[in-house]
Amino acid sequence: MPHSPERPRPDWSPATTAVAAGRPPHEADQPLNVPITMASTYGATGDLEYGRYGNPTWAAFEETLGALEGGRCLAFSSGLATVATVLDLVGQGTTVVAPRHAYNGSVMQLADLESRSRLHARLVDVTDTAAVVTACDGAALVWLESPTNPALELADIETIAAGAHEAGAYVVVDNTFATPLRQRPLTMGADVVVHSATKYLSGHADAMLGALVTADDQLYDALKGRRDLIGAVPGTLETWLGLRGLRTLHLRVDRAESNARTLAERLGGHEAVSEVRYPGFGGIVGMVVADGADAADLVVRSTHLWIHATSLGGVESTFERRRRWKSEPATIPDGLVRLSVGVEDVEDLWADLEHALDVVAG
Ligand SMILES: Cc1ncc(COP(=O)(O)O)c(C=O)c1O
Repeated sequence: MPHSPERPRPDWSPATTAVAAGRPPHEADQPLNVPITMASTYGATGDLEYGRYGNPTWAAFEETLGALEGGRCLAFSSGLATVATVLDLVGQGTTVVAPRHAYNGSVMQLADLESRSRLHARLVDVTDTAAVVTACDGAALVWLESPTNPALELADIETIAAGAHEAGAYVVVDNTFATPLRQRPLTMGADVVVHSATKYLSGHADAMLGALVTADDQLYDALKGRRDLIGAVPGTLETWLGLRGLRTLHLRVDRAESNARTLAERLGGHEAVSEVRYPGFGGIVGMVVADGADAADLVVRSTHLWIHATSLGGVESTFERRRRWKSEPATIPDGLVRLSVGVEDVEDLWADLEHALDVVAG
């Protein structure tokens, strides 16, 4: 189904783009929402040809996220499928710079590629801007995540991107935590933005989905070619759910952020918590339970409203102790609980959390 050719408009605010982009033309009898097109093949000699090359439902999601990030979007079957496709850009045996505290799946993917001599991973402390810029020397690609998952560190994207470009490296930013509503890496020098759209963009813990956005046509063609060949394409229903999620992204992010701010402040005053990490925006908070792993495990088992679960970015509040995953590095505190703050009433969230923390404090 063709989308209105004049839209989305560049002068729209992100909230308007999130609601209005990716819709069928405003014409009699057109549905307001793009249909879920279940098709593995199309009539020959058109633009699509085959289901691995494109799909009208993907296109509506891609149009909307592309407009929000300021480039052209490609959807993938998951965030990690997107990571794999982007890393496939670099040549054999080249160096990739990445944060030591990036999402552990991305770091594991780099370690796996390195173990097979596919590339060399140079892991850095992403908060040490000068060291990261130095590490860019000789690199083919610089991978950034800001805030990092779960350490919640921030990178100076502009400065690092400038240094990386001087060294001739691509700059890729995983923007999953910030979303395009809080940070638009393409305007800060990034060549490619990556998302686990499983998280905030879809927003309801019901779909696995990934995406990338680039404003560089050559990179877009190279990455589209790789998606076609590698075949890590999204499900049609998942892109429809992803687009449904984008419609309320601004409302959900605003509410989660305001809840997260309040909780971060209150957690700082609780005797069971030795450290609170909050980057100043977004809905993810880190709290270090003072008495360590066992106490943190007791906290996550002692709530009624908060759900003990991995993943993040949904309307529902979830939390977990990150070091329960063996793949999480030892530099992450044993008692660090990552909270993904949802959109519930903040007083109910606090009462439930405070009760659980009182259990270990008392
Ligand atoms: C920052 C970040 N990037 C990438 C991923 C991977 O995404 P997916 O689980 O959709 O493959 C995750 C998943 O937790 C993540 O948090």
